[in-house]
Amino acid sequence: MSGRATVVARANIALAKYWGKSDEALNLPAVPSVSMTLAPMRTETTVTLEPSLDHDVFELDGARASDKESVRVSTMLAEIRAEAHDKTHARVASRNFFPTASGLASSASGFAALAAAARAAYGLPRDDRRASILARRASASAARSIFGGFVELPAGTPGDDSLAAYPLFGPDHWDLRLVVAVITEGRKDVSSRDGMGISRRTSPYYEAWVEKSPLIAARIREGLSKQDLAMLGEATEQSFTAMHALAFASSPFTLYFQPGSLAALGTVRRLRDVEGVGVYATMDAGPHVKALCRAKDVEHVAATLGQTQGVLRTIVADPGPGIELA
Ligand code: DP6
Repeated sequence: MSGRATVVARANIALAKYWGKSDEALNLPAVPSVSMTLAPMRTETTVTLEPSLDHDVFELDGARASDKESVRVSTMLAEIRAEAHDKTHARVASRNFFPTASGLASSASGFAALAAAARAAYGLPRDDRRASILARRASASAARSIFGGFVELPAGTPGDDSLAAYPLFGPDHWDLRLVVAVITEGRKDVSSRDGMGISRRTSPYYEAWVEKSPLIAARIREGLSKQDLAMLGEATEQSFTAMHALAFASSPFTLYFQPGSLAALGTVRRLRDVEGVGVYATMDAGPHVKALCRAKDVEHVAATLGQTQGVLRTIVADPGPGIELA
């Protein structure tokens, strides 16, 4: 039935990072990225068509969103209206069910849920590829949250707006866990979009990053396919350290690390080198450290990170499904 639809989508963590665009107008990534969809970090979005509205209305966690937050929502809705040949405006209500202050961005799950819910509300048939393209235009990492398990978003060719993510392996492929070591409460960092723009324009390492990223992504795909944690983990660490080195060397420098981040990285390394635990780190555009390990080791990894100076608390996530229509 059209007119109203509700969709749940989940956040994802990039193992191979997307950082830098090959086409800013079309929001195409310059490098391939590979992610894991995270079961507990959910966004639920309801889109309702309301003929009485003369513009779209966007409510986030029960409050009216700012104009800035609403722009990307309205842009996506306009594209869907054109495809559906329906001019009716919509009310969008989005709610995040994230473990408190997880430090994980909700924009990926939010735009994925919005794309699928809006398509359904405007009466378009379910088409996950189309939804992934729409989500990617709003925020490229959101393209991956349409699908469950382990997901790839290839690099985009400038001018080609048909780029979508696709699933590599389902959520049951491998019993991996992600432990989030929360370092700060809600401090605002340089956004991914701004940070990657500064890196592309000013970092002397940007070309090397674009050249090497496909090799790192290929190792990550192979590590996943063979369920080889050392292969996957080493390449995951290469991806995030290269991304942060590139960002740090940009002008002005973009530094996401805080003292607690360094301490948590030290814990991950000590667990691995001294105790022999298979655990590997990654970080995004913020200070939190995310540790990848097997399910059997997750309690020990979470407890040890939780006792690390500067770590406020830990959150454990497991591989989750793709979008679900209510
Ligand atoms: C570090 O998807 O937020 O999380 O496309 O400009 O909205 P835009 O960027 P965004 O960037 C995510 C960057 C990252 C790595 C990743 O998720 O691949």
